[in-house]
Amino acid sequence: MTSHTTDTAARAFAELDAYRALEAKQQPSWPDPAAVQAASDELAAQPPLVFAGEADQLRARLAAAARGEAFLLQGGDCAETFAAATADKIRDRVKTLLQMAVVLTYGASMPVIKVGRMAGQFAKPRSSDSETRGDVTLPAFRGDLVNGYDFTPESRTADPSRLVQGYHVSASTLNLIRAFTQGGFADLRQVHAWNQGFVSNPANQRYESLAAEIDRAVRFMDACGVDHSELKQTEFYVSHEALLLDYERPLTRVDSRTGELYDTSGHMLWVGERTRDLDGAHVEFLSHVRNPIGVKLGPTATVDDALRLIDKLDPEREPGRLTFITRMGAGKIRDVLPGLLAGVRDAGATPLWITDPMHGNGITSSTGYKTRRFDDVMDELRGFFEAHREVGTFPGGIHVELTGDDVTECLGGSENIDEEALATRYESVCDPRLNHRQSLELAFQVAEELKQP
Ligand code: PEP
Ligand code: CO
Repeated sequence: MTSHTTDTAARAFAELDAYRALEAKQQPSWPDPAAVQAASDELAAQPPLVFAGEADQLRARLAAAARGEAFLLQGGDCAETFAAATADKIRDRVKTLLQMAVVLTYGASMPVIKVGRMAGQFAKPRSSDSETRGDVTLPAFRGDLVNGYDFTPESRTADPSRLVQGYHVSASTLNLIRAFTQGGFADLRQVHAWNQGFVSNPANQRYESLAAEIDRAVRFMDACGVDHSELKQTEFYVSHEALLLDYERPLTRVDSRTGELYDTSGHMLWVGERTRDLDGAHVEFLSHVRNPIGVKLGPTATVDDALRLIDKLDPEREPGRLTFITRMGAGKIRDVLPGLLAGVRDAGATPLWITDPMHGNGITSSTGYKTRRFDDVMDELRGFFEAHREVGTFPGGIHVELTGDDVTECLGGSENIDEEALATRYESVCDPRLNHRQSLELAFQVAEELKQP
Protein backbone atom coordinates (compact mmCIF):
# COMPACT_ATOMS: atom_id res chain seq x y z
CA MET A 1 0.00 0.00 0.00
CA THR A 2 1.21 3.50 -0.74
CA SER A 3 1.12 6.00 2.08
CA HIS A 4 -1.69 7.75 0.21
CA THR A 5 -3.93 4.69 0.37
CA THR A 6 -2.90 4.03 3.98
CA ASP A 7 -4.04 7.55 4.85
CA THR A 8 -7.36 7.09 3.07
CA ALA A 9 -7.98 3.84 4.94
CA ALA A 10 -7.04 5.36 8.28
CA ARG A 11 -9.42 8.25 7.65
CA ALA A 12 -12.26 5.91 6.68
CA PHE A 13 -11.80 3.84 9.84
CA ALA A 14 -11.58 6.97 12.00
CA GLU A 15 -14.95 8.09 10.62
CA LEU A 16 -16.43 4.64 11.14
CA ASP A 17 -15.24 4.58 14.74
CA ALA A 18 -17.45 7.56 15.57
CA TYR A 19 -19.95 4.85 16.54
CA ARG A 20 -17.85 3.98 19.59
CA ALA A 21 -18.83 7.23 21.31
CA LEU A 22 -22.55 6.53 20.88
CA GLU A 23 -24.95 4.34 22.78
CA ALA A 24 -24.98 0.78 21.44
CA LYS A 25 -28.13 -0.98 22.59
CA GLN A 26 -28.49 -4.72 22.96
CA GLN A 27 -24.78 -5.49 23.46
CA PRO A 28 -23.75 -8.26 25.84
CA SER A 29 -21.80 -7.57 28.98
CA TRP A 30 -18.60 -9.44 28.29
CA PRO A 31 -16.97 -10.35 31.60
CA ASP A 32 -13.40 -10.10 30.29
CA PRO A 33 -12.50 -7.10 28.05
CA ALA A 34 -9.07 -8.55 27.26
CA ALA A 35 -10.70 -11.67 25.83
CA VAL A 36 -12.96 -9.51 23.63
CA GLN A 37 -9.90 -7.68 22.32
CA ALA A 38 -8.19 -11.00 21.58
CA ALA A 39 -11.26 -12.26 19.70
CA SER A 40 -11.47 -9.01 17.78
CA ASP A 41 -7.79 -9.24 16.80
CA GLU A 42 -8.29 -12.79 15.64
CA LEU A 43 -11.32 -11.84 13.54
CA ALA A 44 -9.46 -8.90 12.05
CA ALA A 45 -6.80 -11.32 10.81
CA GLN A 46 -9.31 -13.59 9.02
CA PRO A 47 -10.15 -13.30 5.32
CA PRO A 48 -13.38 -11.50 4.41
CA LEU A 49 -16.49 -13.69 4.03
CA VAL A 50 -17.80 -11.74 1.05
CA PHE A 51 -16.25 -9.42 -1.51
CA ALA A 52 -17.02 -5.76 -1.99
CA GLY A 53 -17.86 -6.46 -5.64
CA GLU A 54 -20.58 -8.90 -4.61
CA ALA A 55 -22.14 -6.35 -2.28
CA ASP A 56 -22.09 -3.85 -5.16
CA GLN A 57 -23.77 -6.36 -7.42
CA LEU A 58 -26.50 -6.95 -4.85
CA ARG A 59 -26.97 -3.18 -4.55
CA ALA A 60 -27.51 -3.02 -8.31
CA ARG A 61 -30.06 -5.86 -8.11
CA LEU A 62 -31.89 -4.13 -5.28
CA ALA A 63 -31.93 -0.92 -7.29
CA ALA A 64 -33.88 -2.81 -9.96
CA ALA A 65 -36.35 -3.93 -7.29
CA ALA A 66 -36.71 -0.33 -6.06
CA ARG A 67 -37.62 0.60 -9.65
CA GLY A 68 -40.26 -2.14 -9.75
CA GLU A 69 -38.26 -4.42 -12.04
CA ALA A 70 -37.35 -7.21 -9.59
CA PHE A 71 -38.58 -8.71 -6.33
CA LEU A 72 -36.56 -9.48 -3.20
CA LEU A 73 -36.97 -12.76 -1.37
CA GLN A 74 -35.13 -12.64 1.96
CA GLY A 75 -35.53 -15.49 4.41
CA GLY A 76 -34.06 -17.92 6.90
CA ASP A 77 -33.94 -18.70 10.59
CA CYS A 78 -34.78 -16.15 13.23
CA ALA A 79 -31.58 -17.27 14.96
CA GLU A 80 -29.14 -19.61 13.28
CA THR A 81 -27.33 -21.90 15.70
CA PHE A 82 -23.90 -23.47 15.47
CA ALA A 83 -25.35 -26.93 16.08
CA ALA A 84 -27.86 -26.61 13.24
CA ALA A 85 -25.29 -25.54 10.65
CA THR A 86 -25.37 -29.03 9.15
CA ALA A 87 -25.28 -29.95 5.47
CA ASP A 88 -28.87 -31.24 5.50
CA LYS A 89 -30.40 -28.26 7.21
CA ILE A 90 -28.51 -25.73 5.12
CA ARG A 91 -29.40 -27.62 1.93
CA ASP A 92 -33.09 -27.77 2.84
CA ARG A 93 -33.24 -24.05 3.63
CA VAL A 94 -31.52 -23.23 0.34
CA LYS A 95 -33.88 -25.60 -1.51
CA THR A 96 -36.89 -23.99 0.13
CA LEU A 97 -35.71 -20.52 -0.91
CA LEU A 98 -34.97 -21.72 -4.46
CA GLN A 99 -38.44 -23.26 -4.70
CA MET A 100 -40.10 -20.11 -3.41
CA ALA A 101 -38.06 -18.08 -5.89
CA VAL A 102 -39.23 -20.28 -8.77
CA VAL A 103 -42.85 -19.89 -7.71
CA LEU A 104 -42.42 -16.12 -7.55
CA THR A 105 -40.39 -15.78 -10.75
CA TYR A 106 -42.82 -17.90 -12.72
CA GLY A 107 -45.87 -16.28 -11.15
CA ALA A 108 -44.72 -12.72 -11.54
CA SER A 109 -42.48 -13.05 -14.62
CA MET A 110 -39.96 -10.99 -12.76
CA PRO A 111 -36.40 -11.64 -11.57
CA VAL A 112 -36.29 -12.67 -7.93
CA ILE A 113 -33.29 -11.64 -5.83
CA LYS A 114 -32.47 -14.40 -3.36
CA VAL A 115 -31.00 -13.37 -0.01
CA GLY A 116 -30.66 -15.81 2.89
CA ARG A 117 -30.87 -14.83 6.55
CA MET A 118 -27.89 -17.12 6.72
CA ALA A 119 -24.17 -17.36 7.45
CA GLY A 120 -24.17 -14.75 10.20
CA GLN A 121 -27.65 -14.53 11.74
CA PHE A 122 -26.34 -15.52 15.17
CA ALA A 123 -27.06 -12.53 17.43
CA LYS A 124 -30.46 -11.57 18.84
CA PRO A 125 -31.89 -8.47 20.48
CA ARG A 126 -33.90 -9.35 23.60
CA SER A 127 -36.71 -7.58 25.42
CA SER A 128 -35.02 -8.28 28.75
CA ASP A 129 -31.35 -8.60 29.76
CA SER A 130 -32.15 -11.56 31.97
CA GLU A 131 -34.39 -14.60 32.11
CA THR A 132 -35.94 -16.05 35.26
CA ARG A 133 -37.02 -19.65 35.63
CA GLY A 134 -38.39 -20.53 39.05
CA ASP A 135 -36.11 -18.77 41.46
CA VAL A 136 -33.09 -18.68 39.16
CA THR A 137 -32.25 -15.55 37.14
CA LEU A 138 -29.55 -15.70 34.45
CA PRO A 139 -28.50 -13.51 31.50
CA ALA A 140 -30.88 -13.82 28.54
CA PHE A 141 -29.81 -15.93 25.56
CA ARG A 142 -28.48 -13.42 23.00
CA GLY A 143 -27.67 -15.84 20.18
CA ASP A 144 -24.88 -18.34 19.62
CA LEU A 145 -22.46 -15.52 18.83
CA VAL A 146 -22.72 -14.43 22.48
CA ASN A 147 -23.76 -17.22 24.83
CA GLY A 148 -25.38 -20.65 25.02
CA TYR A 149 -29.09 -21.49 25.06
CA ASP A 150 -28.81 -23.93 27.98
CA PHE A 151 -30.10 -22.41 31.18
CA THR A 152 -26.95 -22.71 33.30
CA PRO A 153 -24.65 -19.95 34.57
CA GLU A 154 -21.70 -21.32 32.51
CA SER A 155 -23.68 -21.45 29.29
CA ARG A 156 -25.37 -18.06 29.71
CA THR A 157 -22.13 -16.19 30.46
CA ALA A 158 -21.13 -14.13 27.40
CA ASP A 159 -18.06 -15.76 25.84
CA PRO A 160 -16.12 -13.79 23.19
CA SER A 161 -14.52 -16.92 21.74
CA ARG A 162 -18.00 -17.45 20.24
CA LEU A 163 -17.36 -14.46 17.95
CA VAL A 164 -14.53 -16.38 16.31
CA GLN A 165 -16.52 -19.61 16.23
CA GLY A 166 -19.41 -17.73 14.60
CA TYR A 167 -17.08 -16.51 11.88
CA HIS A 168 -15.96 -20.08 11.10
CA VAL A 169 -19.50 -21.47 11.11
CA SER A 170 -20.53 -18.63 8.80
CA ALA A 171 -17.59 -19.43 6.51
CA SER A 172 -18.56 -23.10 6.22
CA THR A 173 -22.25 -22.24 5.76
CA LEU A 174 -21.42 -19.76 3.03
CA ASN A 175 -19.08 -22.25 1.40
CA LEU A 176 -21.86 -24.81 1.12
CA ILE A 177 -24.31 -22.19 -0.16
CA ARG A 178 -21.82 -21.17 -2.83
CA ALA A 179 -21.28 -24.82 -3.78
CA PHE A 180 -25.01 -25.47 -4.06
CA THR A 181 -25.87 -22.36 -6.00
CA GLN A 182 -22.88 -22.35 -8.33
CA GLY A 183 -22.07 -26.03 -8.65
CA GLY A 184 -25.09 -27.16 -10.66
CA PHE A 185 -27.57 -27.83 -7.86
CA ALA A 186 -29.39 -24.55 -8.55
CA ASP A 187 -29.59 -25.26 -12.31
CA LEU A 188 -33.15 -24.55 -13.34
CA ARG A 189 -33.24 -28.02 -14.89
CA GLN A 190 -33.14 -29.29 -11.29
CA VAL A 191 -36.50 -27.76 -10.35
CA HIS A 192 -37.93 -31.21 -9.62
CA ALA A 193 -34.96 -32.26 -7.54
CA TRP A 194 -35.46 -29.33 -5.15
CA ASN A 195 -38.83 -30.79 -4.24
CA GLN A 196 -37.44 -34.21 -3.39
CA GLY A 197 -37.01 -35.34 0.18
CA PHE A 198 -39.92 -33.27 1.46
CA VAL A 199 -43.03 -35.05 2.71
CA SER A 200 -45.67 -34.91 0.00
CA ASN A 201 -48.32 -32.25 0.65
CA PRO A 202 -50.68 -30.02 -1.37
CA ALA A 203 -48.19 -27.16 -1.60
CA ASN A 204 -45.38 -29.24 -3.01
CA GLN A 205 -47.78 -31.07 -5.33
CA ARG A 206 -48.75 -27.68 -6.69
CA TYR A 207 -45.06 -26.92 -6.97
CA GLU A 208 -44.52 -30.18 -8.86
CA SER A 209 -46.98 -29.22 -11.58
CA LEU A 210 -45.36 -25.81 -11.90
CA ALA A 211 -41.97 -27.53 -12.19
CA ALA A 212 -43.39 -29.69 -15.00
CA GLU A 213 -44.39 -26.54 -16.90
CA ILE A 214 -40.93 -25.09 -16.43
CA ASP A 215 -39.43 -28.36 -17.68
CA ARG A 216 -41.52 -28.19 -20.82
CA ALA A 217 -40.46 -24.60 -21.41
CA VAL A 218 -36.81 -25.53 -20.93
CA ARG A 219 -37.12 -28.48 -23.34
CA PHE A 220 -38.77 -26.18 -25.84
CA MET A 221 -35.88 -23.73 -25.57
CA ASP A 222 -33.42 -26.65 -25.87
CA ALA A 223 -35.12 -27.75 -29.08
CA CYS A 224 -34.80 -24.19 -30.37
CA GLY A 225 -31.08 -24.26 -29.62
CA VAL A 226 -31.17 -21.56 -26.94
CA ASP A 227 -27.99 -21.30 -24.88
CA HIS A 228 -28.80 -22.12 -21.26
CA SER A 229 -25.71 -20.93 -19.48
CA GLU A 230 -27.86 -18.40 -17.60
CA LEU A 231 -29.87 -21.19 -16.02
CA LYS A 232 -26.94 -23.14 -14.63
CA GLN A 233 -26.11 -20.92 -11.68
CA THR A 234 -28.04 -18.61 -9.51
CA GLU A 235 -27.00 -15.60 -7.51
CA PHE A 236 -27.59 -16.13 -3.83
CA TYR A 237 -26.66 -13.55 -1.24
CA VAL A 238 -26.44 -13.66 2.55
CA SER A 239 -27.58 -11.16 5.15
CA HIS A 240 -28.03 -10.77 8.88
CA GLU A 241 -28.88 -8.20 11.50
CA ALA A 242 -25.71 -6.20 12.19
CA LEU A 243 -26.33 -6.27 15.93
CA LEU A 244 -23.10 -7.24 17.57
CA LEU A 245 -20.62 -4.51 16.80
CA ASP A 246 -17.75 -6.51 18.29
CA TYR A 247 -18.32 -8.93 15.41
CA GLU A 248 -19.06 -6.46 12.61
CA ARG A 249 -16.21 -4.03 13.28
CA PRO A 250 -13.23 -6.40 12.83
CA LEU A 251 -14.82 -7.80 9.67
CA THR A 252 -15.10 -4.34 8.14
CA ARG A 253 -12.42 -3.86 5.50
CA VAL A 254 -11.21 -1.33 2.97
CA ASP A 255 -12.02 -2.10 -0.64
CA SER A 256 -8.67 -1.84 -2.41
CA ARG A 257 -10.43 -0.65 -5.58
CA THR A 258 -11.99 2.44 -4.07
CA GLY A 259 -10.73 2.96 -0.52
CA GLU A 260 -14.28 2.60 0.79
CA LEU A 261 -15.38 0.43 3.71
CA TYR A 262 -17.42 -2.76 3.42
CA ASP A 263 -18.66 -4.92 6.25
CA THR A 264 -17.50 -8.24 4.82
CA SER A 265 -19.49 -10.38 7.29
CA GLY A 266 -22.38 -10.51 4.79
CA HIS A 267 -23.61 -8.96 1.57
CA MET A 268 -26.51 -7.08 3.12
CA LEU A 269 -26.81 -5.97 6.74
CA TRP A 270 -29.85 -4.67 8.49
CA VAL A 271 -30.55 -2.76 11.68
CA GLY A 272 -33.39 -4.02 13.84
CA GLU A 273 -36.45 -2.29 15.22
CA ARG A 274 -34.84 -1.98 18.66
CA THR A 275 -31.53 -0.51 17.54
CA ARG A 276 -32.46 1.86 14.75
CA ASP A 277 -32.09 5.05 16.85
CA LEU A 278 -30.82 7.83 14.68
CA ASP A 279 -28.16 8.86 17.18
CA GLY A 280 -27.29 5.32 18.22
CA ALA A 281 -24.16 3.32 17.41
CA HIS A 282 -25.77 0.90 14.92
CA VAL A 283 -27.07 3.49 12.48
CA GLU A 284 -23.80 5.43 12.73
CA PHE A 285 -21.81 2.26 12.03
CA LEU A 286 -23.84 1.25 9.00
CA SER A 287 -23.79 4.77 7.59
CA HIS A 288 -20.05 4.30 6.95
CA VAL A 289 -20.10 0.99 5.07
CA ARG A 290 -21.02 0.62 1.40
CA ASN A 291 -23.05 -2.60 1.67
CA PRO A 292 -26.76 -2.47 0.90
CA ILE A 293 -28.47 -1.68 4.22
CA GLY A 294 -31.88 -2.63 5.58
CA VAL A 295 -33.81 -0.95 8.38
CA LYS A 296 -36.76 -2.53 10.15
CA LEU A 297 -39.68 -0.17 10.64
CA GLY A 298 -42.35 -1.04 13.20
CA PRO A 299 -45.84 0.43 13.61
CA THR A 300 -44.68 3.51 15.52
CA ALA A 301 -42.30 4.67 12.76
CA THR A 302 -43.17 8.10 11.39
CA VAL A 303 -42.47 9.72 8.03
CA ASP A 304 -40.00 11.94 9.83
CA ASP A 305 -38.17 8.89 11.25
CA ALA A 306 -37.97 7.39 7.77
CA LEU A 307 -36.71 10.60 6.18
CA ARG A 308 -34.03 11.11 8.82
CA LEU A 309 -32.89 7.53 8.37
CA ILE A 310 -32.68 8.15 4.63
CA ASP A 311 -30.64 11.32 5.19
CA LYS A 312 -28.25 9.48 7.49
CA LEU A 313 -27.90 6.16 5.69
CA ASP A 314 -28.54 7.13 2.09
CA PRO A 315 -27.76 10.83 1.73
CA GLU A 316 -27.11 10.42 -2.00
CA ARG A 317 -30.43 8.58 -2.38
CA GLU A 318 -28.71 5.90 -4.32
CA PRO A 319 -31.12 3.25 -5.59
CA GLY A 320 -30.56 -0.12 -3.91
CA ARG A 321 -28.61 1.32 -0.99
CA LEU A 322 -31.49 1.37 1.48
CA THR A 323 -34.29 -1.11 2.06
CA PHE A 324 -37.08 -0.44 4.52
CA ILE A 325 -38.36 -3.68 6.00
CA THR A 326 -41.77 -2.91 7.47
CA ARG A 327 -43.11 -5.10 10.29
CA MET A 328 -46.32 -3.48 11.36
CA GLY A 329 -48.62 -6.30 12.43
CA ALA A 330 -51.66 -7.47 10.48
CA GLY A 331 -53.98 -5.24 12.50
CA LYS A 332 -52.00 -2.06 11.86
CA ILE A 333 -50.42 -2.23 8.43
CA ARG A 334 -53.40 -0.86 6.53
CA ASP A 335 -53.55 2.19 8.83
CA VAL A 336 -49.85 2.92 9.13
CA LEU A 337 -48.10 1.93 5.92
CA PRO A 338 -49.90 4.06 3.29
CA GLY A 339 -49.00 7.31 5.08
CA LEU A 340 -45.39 6.24 5.41
CA LEU A 341 -45.13 5.29 1.74
CA ALA A 342 -46.74 8.51 0.58
CA GLY A 343 -44.65 10.72 2.89
CA VAL A 344 -41.39 9.20 1.72
CA ARG A 345 -42.41 9.32 -1.92
CA ASP A 346 -43.50 12.96 -1.62
CA ALA A 347 -40.05 13.79 -0.25
CA GLY A 348 -38.59 12.39 -3.48
CA ALA A 349 -36.91 9.33 -1.95
CA THR A 350 -37.11 5.89 -3.53
CA PRO A 351 -36.01 3.27 -1.02
CA LEU A 352 -36.87 -0.36 -1.61
CA TRP A 353 -39.90 -1.34 0.48
CA ILE A 354 -40.30 -4.92 1.59
CA THR A 355 -42.55 -6.57 4.17
CA ASP A 356 -41.61 -8.65 7.17
CA PRO A 357 -45.02 -10.13 7.99
CA MET A 358 -43.64 -12.08 10.94
CA HIS A 359 -42.39 -9.77 13.70
CA GLY A 360 -45.55 -7.73 14.19
CA ASN A 361 -47.62 -10.86 14.67
CA GLY A 362 -46.08 -12.69 17.59
CA ILE A 363 -48.35 -14.32 20.17
CA THR A 364 -47.90 -16.79 23.01
CA SER A 365 -49.97 -19.96 22.80
CA SER A 366 -52.00 -21.11 25.81
CA THR A 367 -49.43 -23.88 26.06
CA GLY A 368 -46.63 -21.33 26.46
CA TYR A 369 -45.04 -21.36 22.97
CA LYS A 370 -43.94 -18.23 21.15
CA THR A 371 -45.86 -18.57 17.91
CA ARG A 372 -47.56 -16.78 14.99
CA ARG A 373 -50.72 -17.52 13.08
CA PHE A 374 -50.12 -18.28 9.41
CA ASP A 375 -53.37 -16.37 8.70
CA ASP A 376 -52.02 -13.22 10.40
CA VAL A 377 -48.82 -13.49 8.37
CA MET A 378 -50.87 -13.78 5.17
CA ASP A 379 -53.11 -10.92 6.25
CA GLU A 380 -50.15 -8.61 6.78
CA LEU A 381 -48.82 -9.64 3.36
CA ARG A 382 -52.09 -8.72 1.70
CA GLY A 383 -52.15 -5.44 3.64
CA PHE A 384 -48.66 -4.69 2.30
CA PHE A 385 -49.76 -5.16 -1.31
CA GLU A 386 -52.96 -3.17 -0.71
CA ALA A 387 -51.04 -0.25 0.80
CA HIS A 388 -48.69 -0.11 -2.18
CA ARG A 389 -51.58 -0.30 -4.66
CA GLU A 390 -53.31 2.54 -2.81
CA VAL A 391 -50.25 4.81 -2.90
CA GLY A 392 -48.88 3.72 -6.26
CA THR A 393 -45.51 2.52 -4.94
CA PHE A 394 -43.88 -0.84 -5.63
CA PRO A 395 -44.17 -3.71 -3.14
CA GLY A 396 -40.59 -4.82 -3.63
CA GLY A 397 -40.14 -7.97 -1.58
CA ILE A 398 -40.67 -10.13 1.46
CA HIS A 399 -38.59 -10.91 4.52
CA VAL A 400 -39.61 -14.10 6.29
CA GLU A 401 -38.44 -16.47 9.00
CA LEU A 402 -38.46 -19.98 7.60
CA THR A 403 -36.79 -23.34 7.61
CA GLY A 404 -36.73 -26.27 5.20
CA ASP A 405 -37.62 -28.60 8.07
CA ASP A 406 -41.05 -29.93 9.00
CA VAL A 407 -41.20 -28.02 12.25
CA THR A 408 -44.40 -27.07 14.06
CA GLU A 409 -43.77 -23.51 15.17
CA CYS A 410 -46.40 -21.36 13.41
CA LEU A 411 -50.13 -22.07 13.79
CA GLY A 412 -52.30 -22.91 10.77
CA GLY A 413 -51.42 -23.40 7.13
CA SER A 414 -52.93 -26.20 5.09
CA GLU A 415 -51.82 -28.87 7.58
CA ASN A 416 -53.61 -26.79 10.19
CA ILE A 417 -51.07 -26.89 12.99
CA ASP A 418 -53.01 -26.23 16.21
CA GLU A 419 -51.87 -25.27 19.69
CA GLU A 420 -51.49 -28.87 20.70
CA ALA A 421 -49.40 -29.71 17.65
CA LEU A 422 -46.87 -26.96 18.42
CA ALA A 423 -45.20 -29.28 20.92
CA THR A 424 -44.59 -31.97 18.27
CA ARG A 425 -41.58 -30.36 16.69
CA TYR A 426 -40.77 -26.91 18.04
CA GLU A 427 -37.04 -26.32 17.51
CA SER A 428 -36.50 -22.58 17.18
CA VAL A 429 -34.35 -21.02 19.90
CA CYS A 430 -35.95 -17.67 19.16
CA ASP A 431 -38.96 -16.76 16.98
CA PRO A 432 -41.24 -19.35 15.30
CA ARG A 433 -40.47 -20.09 11.65
CA LEU A 434 -42.64 -21.12 8.75
CA ASN A 435 -41.96 -24.75 7.92
CA HIS A 436 -41.24 -25.96 4.40
CA ARG A 437 -44.86 -26.38 3.42
CA GLN A 438 -46.03 -23.08 4.90
CA SER A 439 -43.16 -21.33 3.09
CA LEU A 440 -44.29 -22.71 -0.27
CA GLU A 441 -47.92 -21.82 0.47
CA LEU A 442 -46.84 -18.29 1.25
CA ALA A 443 -44.86 -18.07 -2.00
CA PHE A 444 -47.90 -19.16 -4.04
CA GLN A 445 -50.02 -16.49 -2.39
CA VAL A 446 -47.42 -13.79 -2.94
CA ALA A 447 -47.21 -14.83 -6.61
CA GLU A 448 -50.98 -14.29 -6.86
CA GLU A 449 -50.61 -10.81 -5.39
CA LEU A 450 -47.79 -10.01 -7.79
CA LYS A 451 -49.92 -11.03 -10.76
CA GLN A 452 -52.54 -8.41 -9.90
CA PRO A 453 -52.15 -5.19 -11.83
C1 PEP B 1 -35.62 -10.33 13.64
O1 PEP B 1 -35.62 -10.05 12.43
O2 PEP B 1 -35.41 -11.48 14.07
C2 PEP B 1 -35.95 -9.25 14.61
C3 PEP B 1 -35.53 -9.28 15.86
O3 PEP B 1 -36.73 -8.31 14.06
P1 PEP B 1 -37.16 -6.86 14.57
O4 PEP B 1 -35.91 -6.06 14.74
O5 PEP B 1 -38.01 -6.36 13.45
O6 PEP B 1 -37.92 -7.03 15.84
CO1 CO C 1 -37.10 -13.06 14.66
